[in-house]
Amino acid sequence: FDLDLIIRNGIVVTAADQVACDIGIKHGKISILAAGLPSLDGCQEIDADGGYITPGGVDSHVHVAQSAAKGLGARSADDWTSATRSALAGGTTTILAFAVQARGTSLADAVIDYHKKSDDFAVCDYGFHLIVTDPNEHQMHSELPKLVKEGITSMKIYMTYVDLKLNDGEILNVLVAARKYKVTTMVHCENADVIDWMTKSLQERGMTEPWHHGTSRPPIVESEATNRALALAELMDTPMLIVHVSAPEAINIIRKAQTRLLPIYAETCPHYAILDGSQMRKEGFEGAKCVCAPPLRDDPKDKERIWEGLANSTFTVFSSDHAPTCYNDEHGKQLGLIKNPTNNPRGNFKTIPNGLPGVETRTPLLWSEGVLKGRITPQKFVELNSTNAAKLYGMYPQKGTLQSGSDADLIIWRSDKNRRPYKIENSKLHHACDYTPYEDVVLEDWPRYTILRGKVVYDSETNEVMAPPGSGRFLQRGSSTLPGPRNQWLSEWRPE
Ligand code: URP
Ligand code: ZN
Ligand code: ZN
Repeated sequence: FDLDLIIRNGIVVTAADQVACDIGIKHGKISILAAGLPSLDGCQEIDADGGYITPGGVDSHVHVAQSAAKGLGARSADDWTSATRSALAGGTTTILAFAVQARGTSLADAVIDYHKKSDDFAVCDYGFHLIVTDPNEHQMHSELPKLVKEGITSMKIYMTYVDLKLNDGEILNVLVAARKYKVTTMVHCENADVIDWMTKSLQERGMTEPWHHGTSRPPIVESEATNRALALAELMDTPMLIVHVSAPEAINIIRKAQTRLLPIYAETCPHYAILDGSQMRKEGFEGAKCVCAPPLRDDPKDKERIWEGLANSTFTVFSSDHAPTCYNDEHGKQLGLIKNPTNNPRGNFKTIPNGLPGVETRTPLLWSEGVLKGRITPQKFVELNSTNAAKLYGMYPQKGTLQSGSDADLIIWRSDKNRRPYKIENSKLHHACDYTPYEDVVLEDWPRYTILRGKVVYDSETNEVMAPPGSGRFLQRGSSTLPGPRNQWLSEWRPE
């Protein structure tokens, strides 16, 4: 037996187990997991020194250089190299990002455009979700099945944003196709008309501060749309993932559907577990940096509801929703992206781009605030950080676990005795965004090494990412392996 790399003295963690053993790697894949592997000539070795080893992170919700972030009104701070370098430095070895179909254009064109932006530039492995804005017969039943064959097996749809939103009938068109071609559907649930109405009313009253973004979208805006999306999923007997869930009211609705054994999955994000609405009230320009949709919620106790949902499996995946926009232009001038600066130096919520950067901090936040603070087990961490996303998006077991035959993507953490606090500072991060909403947050640890297909690609001693542009691989994904349609119908209607 022949190996390229042996990692010794680690505690190997999967979604099910943990075991003290060595990992033998050959040709970028895990070849063997066993205690006391013999030393081999020419084989590199790494001493994990008693630290945990977890699968490389799979971040299944990342916006990278989306065409003018279509419909969201902002230019992405990151290109494919900076976003994926940032991923590796935070322990994430796979990302799934969005190829957007502009209305009136084809899904295939969106994918061609996105390959051009990513293929020669990515440094971690990656796949694409489609964002569907025009679910007509041809796109859904001619183009979509071809893209599924190319390994693009998931799509996101929006219930809000003028340029993106679908009405209920259009959502049904998407769900019928999703069921037929085994595509995972992700839904952004917010009630567009209520947001528009509230925004107009608030603007008329001069209530334009960053925190009025939250005023315009109280929890019921999210929970009403969530309830509607789940009703449509049940009507079409289609699995569905509700993305970036923030409100306890929406969590309750999702939990009820899951208790009824509907194949409903849910995602939450670090910012809803760590931050709250008070961030939007910070001095000067700081509030504008924490505007995202759905908004950070006002009641600080809601964060504990998020942690509860992470621990009790209501949430399937923990994703960054990395959506970075710079707040200084290239000359260092503030308010570069915010219109109307003179009237409101803090930024008018209506024109502040929605979204926060976070691809690098996602995994360390979940490890430090979740596992090391005792809120979740190491196994639950692996499930939320890697395994479930790999299963839901058709990459398992190539990605998302540590077993013989899997890609050798992993994070080596420090053992209890070697652990050291890590203060998050934007200057240390590898993205191209000029802020992090977690500035000065002190974590209990940071990934010591990130390994992608058997190569050390990040070393925390030097804080260096060692992977050349283009070394990331496009993943041709299969269909979800989590429970799917149940063949239970609400009327005599059946799909063809
Ligand atoms: O505020 C957010 N979440 N921006 C990114 C776009 C989206 O809807 O996920
Ligand atoms: Zn969204
Ligand atoms: Zn998003």
